[in-house]
Amino acid sequence: MPLKLECGNKRNMIFAGLASLGALAAGTYWYASRVEARRFKLEVVNVITGAGHEPLAEAEAVAGRHPLSLRVLHLSDLHLSKPESVKIDFVRRVTDDDFDLILFTGDIFENYSGIEYASQLISRQPRLGSYAVLGNHDYYNYTMFHRTLGRLHKKFRYPKEYRDVEPMVEALENAGITVLRNTSKSHEEEKVHIVGVDYPGISDADLKKLVQSAPKNHAILLLFHVPKNLKRYAELGVHMAFGGHTHGGQVRVPGVGALITDSELPRHEASGLLWRGNTAIHISRGLGADPRTNFRLFCPPHASIINIKHYS
Ligand SMILES: [Fe+2]
Repeated sequence: MPLKLECGNKRNMIFAGLASLGALAAGTYWYASRVEARRFKLEVVNVITGAGHEPLAEAEAVAGRHPLSLRVLHLSDLHLSKPESVKIDFVRRVTDDDFDLILFTGDIFENYSGIEYASQLISRQPRLGSYAVLGNHDYYNYTMFHRTLGRLHKKFRYPKEYRDVEPMVEALENAGITVLRNTSKSHEEEKVHIVGVDYPGISDADLKKLVQSAPKNHAILLLFHVPKNLKRYAELGVHMAFGGHTHGGQVRVPGVGALITDSELPRHEASGLLWRGNTAIHISRGLGADPRTNFRLFCPPHASIINIKHYS
């Protein structure tokens, strides 16, 4: 009898343990998807470009020179799909400010239903305009098959074909956002040259042409979505590049950081300001994710104000 009682107690304890774990997992998922994924933050990053990134080099290089100052809003990975409300409200609030540039670095839309929000993205046009590049979620219609089996094997990760992105491009252009698809734009008076790398990629020769088409003494800015072969940008003399895709890892463990970056970046470079040579690179944590996997832990969604002082 006592032995039976002991077995029964053990079973109850195991059941209680499993139930507690289940409740903890459910609670964590609820918090990560319903609370933290909607806790939008605005961060401010200050950066000096064109003077190397070593503090000593900066001090020597900038003596007696006057920098070009740019106030840039960097937004990424909105993954817009119907219905949106909180995210769009946040974007409208942060764009209602004085910027020189507003930059979108891909995964703007999750699917065609998100296109209707394009016209609401910019509350106030910045001085030098708004620019965007597209990302993998703009180009691909991912199914759950790709989102699950694709995690196990690269072969299943991407749909076979790109979708037609023209309706997205048209909606963005109508909203006053210039989409750079392996093209560039120069603002000669303000000495700013902007290059946009489209998600499907660009050859080294074409990239070189775009970067080197910058008129003399211009600050060369570059937009991309996936962090890939970043050292190319440094080799070509890009002053500052902006990208996304990593979502900052989405789940960060205190003391450890991001668990994955889904890119060539090491985990400690999952988001924030990093350098390749003298090229500053800002990787945004983004504002969203695929709605089916939109959960975040210790990694709230961010918009970023980048104050650039550029020494040409
Ligand atoms: Fe994304």
